[in-house]
Amino acid sequence: MKTLLFFLLLLSLCFTNDIKVTQSAQYTGDRLTQKDEINFSNKAENNLKIQIDPTKTYQNITGFGGAFTEACAVNFLKLSSDLQNEIFSQYFHNIGYSLCRVHINSCDFSESSYSFDDTVNDYSLSSWSLNNGHDPKTLIPLIKKALTFNPNLKIYGSPWSPPAWMKGNNEMCHSSYPGLKADSRIHQAWALYFSKWISAYKQSGIPIWGLTIQNEPEFAAPWEACIYTPDQEADFLAQYLGPQIKHDHPEIKIMIYDHNKDHLETWANTIFSRSDASKFADGVAFHWYSGSQFENVKNVYDNWGDKFFLLATEACVCPATGFQDWNRGEQYGYDIIGDLNSGSVGWVDWNMCLNMQGGPNHLGNNCGSPVMVDADSNPQTITFTTPFYYMGQISKFLKPGSTILDTQIINGDENFIAVTGQTLDKKIVVVVQNQNDSERNFDLVYRNKIANISMPQHSITSFVFDA
Ligand SMILES: *[C@@H]1O[C@H](CO)[C@@H](O)[C@H](O)[C@H]1NC(C)=O
Ligand SMILES: *[C@@H]1O[C@H](CO)[C@@H](O)[C@H](O)[C@H]1NC(C)=O
Ligand SMILES: *[C@@H]1O[C@H](CO)[C@@H](O)[C@H](O)[C@H]1NC(C)=O
Ligand SMILES: *[C@@H]1O[C@H](CO)[C@@H](O)[C@H](O)[C@H]1NC(C)=O
Repeated sequence: MKTLLFFLLLLSLCFTNDIKVTQSAQYTGDRLTQKDEINFSNKAENNLKIQIDPTKTYQNITGFGGAFTEACAVNFLKLSSDLQNEIFSQYFHNIGYSLCRVHINSCDFSESSYSFDDTVNDYSLSSWSLNNGHDPKTLIPLIKKALTFNPNLKIYGSPWSPPAWMKGNNEMCHSSYPGLKADSRIHQAWALYFSKWISAYKQSGIPIWGLTIQNEPEFAAPWEACIYTPDQEADFLAQYLGPQIKHDHPEIKIMIYDHNKDHLETWANTIFSRSDASKFADGVAFHWYSGSQFENVKNVYDNWGDKFFLLATEACVCPATGFQDWNRGEQYGYDIIGDLNSGSVGWVDWNMCLNMQGGPNHLGNNCGSPVMVDADSNPQTITFTTPFYYMGQISKFLKPGSTILDTQIINGDENFIAVTGQTLDKKIVVVVQNQNDSERNFDLVYRNKIANISMPQHSITSFVFDA
């Protein structure tokens, strides 16, 4: 018996250094494909190096995911149950989605505008009902199905617009400056509205984890919108939304901003500096549409990261053609890796599935999605596009609770990027993206160990080994 245990120990020691490899690469059939394991050696082979410092730790991962939108729901619910199961088992079982978004009231990816209370000046919201909106036939069945795949899913809600009667321009689309009427009864009613929405979702069997105060508060969009300045959002949080949610649903995480990285620092600095508002804030949410701007994320993390979390809450690639372009996946990978290296606790995509026209969208703002659905063809088809694989190469391995570690690239360039995390079960995960037109050979250096690795052109690879 002792000898057997000894051999088992020896055997396990021999294998502890092996690196498991999963890869997606253009011009190959590799799509989240498991490759041969690689062994560490102790020999430096290449000038290009990825060096991991496990003693330098940063934020922990909350999760990855996408958005439940009405557009996604109407496409998804038309599919056969086999295809529905295929989409959700890919998202929730295979690539581990754990953090998802949903719109409160309609958004542009709805079939038309709606709210849950269109009764003008109903300050007490006595006419408020989920049945006044589309959700009971669209978002609720979609999300309840998702919860059967991942019962621990964290879900956060974001409004695009309050009901028309609360707004200065008296319609849900576009916005006055500011968007809400200057009437404290309106501000109070809008805060109560969030609380009623959380209660109604809970009653439908959908637990809510968090909120953003307003989707894209700087953009008076042609679709549902509502403008705030940073101080106006801080006022609304301090005087109305914060006290209401703290009282009714104290577990809810409240995120400020929810717009592009270009003005992330101004919003975080203004609202987090105001003690009346920041006491109700848990984090800051941001989108990618103004460019990668990782230094802005890093600055907010360095200044505020000990008190507030940072989360990438929306991204997608438009226009609605070229859904399979490899570059679309690389854009996802580049942004996810950069955001994680700058302090983001996760990364949440926009629509989880769209039709072959990139919709429906009631303002024609069509876009791509990791899953494109053709529910009207016979047979029905679903297509996984390159963003699915780039997201999956990261979300599948950097499980919630993983700690981001320091990664240094020696002799690299912007076409060669990497992020590292340590999972709760003590595995090191290194995800490397090679955007170069040529193959890249590099040394992966961890503690006193070195692995000689080659990655094909335009590939993303996840390396997993024992810490
Ligand atoms: C890695 O090491 C294991 C055990 O020592 C060995 O069986 C395997 O062949 C090695 N793999 C490679 C690719 O060298
Ligand atoms: C990350 O999680 C670990 C436990 O897994 C905890 O000890 C640590 O404090 C967390 N770090 C941060 C920055 O939250
Ligand atoms: C591609 O990689 C080669 C080395 O393999 C390097 O010389 C070249 O600068 C890289 N090109 C780009 C655009 O990064
Ligand atoms: C390192 O990897 C490169 C590319 O795969 C290979 O050509 C070379 O022989 C390897 N070096 C050693 C010592 O295995």
